[in-house]
Amino acid sequence: MAFNDAFLEELRSKNEISEVIGAYVNLKRAGRLYKGLCPFHGEKTPSFTVYPDTQSFYCFGCGVGGDVVSFIRKAENLDYTEAVKLLADRSGIPMPESGYDDSMLKRRNRIYEINKEAAHFFFSQLIDKKHAHALQYYFDRGYTFDTIKHFGLGYAPDSWDALKKHLNEMHYTNEELYAANLVSKSSKGGYYDRFRNRVIIPIIDLRGRVVGFGGRVLDDSKPKYLNTSDTLAYKKTHQIFAMNFAKNHAVQGIILCEGYMDVIALHQAGFENAVASCGTAITPEQVRTIAKYTDTVFLSQDADEAGRKAVEKSIALFGEVNIKVKVLNISGAKDPDEYIQKYGADRFKALIEGAETDTEYKLLTAKNKYDLATNAGRADYVNEAARILSELDPIKRDIYASEIAEQTGVSKGAIISECKRLARRQTRTKRREVDRAAMRMSDEKDKINPEKPRYKAAALAEERIIAVLMNHPDYVRTIEANVTEDDFVTAFNRHIFSVIMRRIREGKSISMSALGQELTTDELSVLAGLEVLGKGLGNPRLECLESITTLKEEKLKQLKPDIENLSDEEFRKLFES
Ligand code: UTP
Ligand code: MN
Repeated sequence: MAFNDAFLEELRSKNEISEVIGAYVNLKRAGRLYKGLCPFHGEKTPSFTVYPDTQSFYCFGCGVGGDVVSFIRKAENLDYTEAVKLLADRSGIPMPESGYDDSMLKRRNRIYEINKEAAHFFFSQLIDKKHAHALQYYFDRGYTFDTIKHFGLGYAPDSWDALKKHLNEMHYTNEELYAANLVSKSSKGGYYDRFRNRVIIPIIDLRGRVVGFGGRVLDDSKPKYLNTSDTLAYKKTHQIFAMNFAKNHAVQGIILCEGYMDVIALHQAGFENAVASCGTAITPEQVRTIAKYTDTVFLSQDADEAGRKAVEKSIALFGEVNIKVKVLNISGAKDPDEYIQKYGADRFKALIEGAETDTEYKLLTAKNKYDLATNAGRADYVNEAARILSELDPIKRDIYASEIAEQTGVSKGAIISECKRLARRQTRTKRREVDRAAMRMSDEKDKINPEKPRYKAAALAEERIIAVLMNHPDYVRTIEANVTEDDFVTAFNRHIFSVIMRRIREGKSISMSALGQELTTDELSVLAGLEVLGKGLGNPRLECLESITTLKEEKLKQLKPDIENLSDEEFRKLFES
């Protein structure tokens, strides 16, 4: 049966691939990956690899790969639907056709209700005269009562059971409160309020549901913040604080801060497009959500070392989804909250208007490292700048090269040709490694794509195009504009490519779980291999364009012998292409 993308997405997120596979294979962490002995062929050194970031696996030994569903299909020898059923059961997700088994949904809805009641309770405690000091805390930070109401801010009293009692009276059980992460369990099995003597910031999802809370101490004690841990209703790495408000103002871009308090201060000052990641560094999931609403992000992280690291990580992650990144220069204050209190909203607005692009930020960081008064310093700076510019498109490259030429006296032409040389070199070095790995991996694949040995160069180019598509779906426009299924030489790759492109055109997901419905496990294995290889490729735009050129040349070569026998019409077509 066909499953919709939302169901498969949920299935995937509730069945963390490393956990599922961990029950079959003894996995050892290796950096961001896991490695183990392949369950599908005999081996003594581990070449079976699990990739948590793409939720996929691949064995470099036997070429088997795919997503969590195809792993279960292989390991348990099941068909697609049976494998989905097994995973749905494992994680307590109701199968779409069995409408009656919605226990998990019910439990989750209970958590939303409980959270809403808890938020009301925290608010009522805040405005209770007994706790005037808590309200005063917010006023001291400059927040108005309107702001407090707008965000539903509250206070958790200094008590072990005030919230618990209140919610018990409303007939919520302690187990339910525990599932909502509002109470903790003592070693003796008793329950007690988790948030005590803290000001409370509710976290609200895009559909307006209270999904969790942040609680801050009123003084300098530690830990400064306590946050809801992951529950059925809340996943910290996916949630973006204040996105429920900011999404309506996202045409102006999204301002990304580190802290709840920064966001609240910014909203009060009129910047309602400010958001924060919830107590973690920004994650790829959060980046994808933001990318749905805007094309520009203003990085407004703290002005300390941790903040600078956060800026760098954010530049890389937003770059992957083609979001324009600008970096605010919050100097003279430690964070946006303090900046607004100290200098006011107009100065912050000026910061936004004067924000550097990510490239300017990187160039400035590079420039500060060198002494431009010396020849050696200038040369080092130009070299590093050329590396930064080599990742840009030609127009941006041109603009920044002019600037650097002016700063250093090195000619713009020289800078540009160095950039081009670096970009080509980097892309080719990476491609060589990828092609070598692809050939190593291809023993098994050749059975699936029998045309590959004969049309090696074309097949490798096809594979790189698919690999870019899997890793950077946003390059689909570049690909669509320059290559069609007909340009593909090998039937196998043409089939994979056309399935992916059709799904993109239909607005469907091209995650492995989604593709698993249309491809065989063998085809999915090849695709998993390509996805893995694609991680090693360089500049995706350059890679697309060069691989497409290669493919077209190869296609032409393949047609050549027949050229003599072509009709005029056919010849003209071929010539034009
Ligand atoms: P900050 O320490 O910068 O907090 O942490 P802040 O928002 O500026 O708070 P104030 O101004 O000191 O009151 C940034 C974010 O990191 C998370 C919280 O989400 C916080 O908003 N954090 C920080 C925690 O989750 N736990 C902590 O102990 C500290
Ligand atoms: Mn702060």
